[in-house]
Amino acid sequence: MITGDKVWFDGSLATSKSISVSLMSHGLHYGGGVFEGIRIYDTPRGRSIFRLRDHLCRFIDSAKYLRLNIEYDIDDLYEAVKLVVRANGPNADYIRPIAFYGETPNLSMNPLNIPSHVAIITVHMGSYIGNRQVQDGMDVIISSWEKSSNRTTSSMAKICGNYINLALAKLEATQAGVDEAIMINCNGTVAEGTGENLFIVRNGNVITPDLASGILEGITRDTVMRLAKASDYIVEERPIIRGELMVADEIFMTGTAAEIVPVRTINNVLVADGAPGPVTRHMQKLFHDVVRGRDARFIEWIDLIDDKSAEISDSLETFETES
Ligand SMILES: Cc1ncc(COP(=O)(O)O)c(C=O)c1O
Repeated sequence: MITGDKVWFDGSLATSKSISVSLMSHGLHYGGGVFEGIRIYDTPRGRSIFRLRDHLCRFIDSAKYLRLNIEYDIDDLYEAVKLVVRANGPNADYIRPIAFYGETPNLSMNPLNIPSHVAIITVHMGSYIGNRQVQDGMDVIISSWEKSSNRTTSSMAKICGNYINLALAKLEATQAGVDEAIMINCNGTVAEGTGENLFIVRNGNVITPDLASGILEGITRDTVMRLAKASDYIVEERPIIRGELMVADEIFMTGTAAEIVPVRTINNVLVADGAPGPVTRHMQKLFHDVVRGRDARFIEWIDLIDDKSAEISDSLETFETES
């Protein structure tokens, strides 16, 4: 993963090497920060940031749980993201905004009156889980770690400190030689992956855990639910019991970094016959077209880095005529 040389930090563009952050930062010691992960895609009319405003809304909302003051409003952040993306050139495909509590006097855990900082970083990520896994499916385990409950912290917020629970599960999966871990919550039902939401397909219906299952309200999850409904699937948001994973016709996981990845095995047991199923394949294809601005029905999710909005509808007409 190559990090962009330019970053946006507390209101201006700078080189990443010029930034220094206090070793007394609350964010470093106690995880007092929030972040986002956002993808950049090529479209027929130039590069676009997928659902940028939705990601920035979640960023601002995540900060509310921590009473973390972000001095910038959504329009400031929107412009800042575009500025840093342009500055880092075409190699950047993933954006990481992060806001965190800075220097904490006396190492106090109380975040009140601690200054906050905001940074926007870009990287070249490519495929997060792996191209082979996107094609053929990934192998996962059910983590021995329980997903933090909605009473432990808020799963709906992308709070830095929340991620140690998920990092332990990712470590466990890596040490077990597989690609991902599925987290079970305190009720014994399925929550999500370490950086992905989870869907199962049973009897042709598309089912994903509800918010009470202790999940992040994923933007890709929302995209997939809307695309599935547009494809006339019945979509259910409800608790999924562990046993349903064993009898599902298909399982796939979704996230900005991961995109849509089929699950091939769980704890070494094949999901159905192990091959990605037709619903998963359909959703992957539709998602691929939508994020690349090739589906007129979802064009409002396309946010061109260099705004040529007038031209995008022309290019869509061309695409529709050609395809
Ligand atoms: C814990 C967790 N669940 C799910 C997701 C997927 O969310 P999104 O689709 O918004 O990237 C992510 C990634 O952001 C995540 O970190």
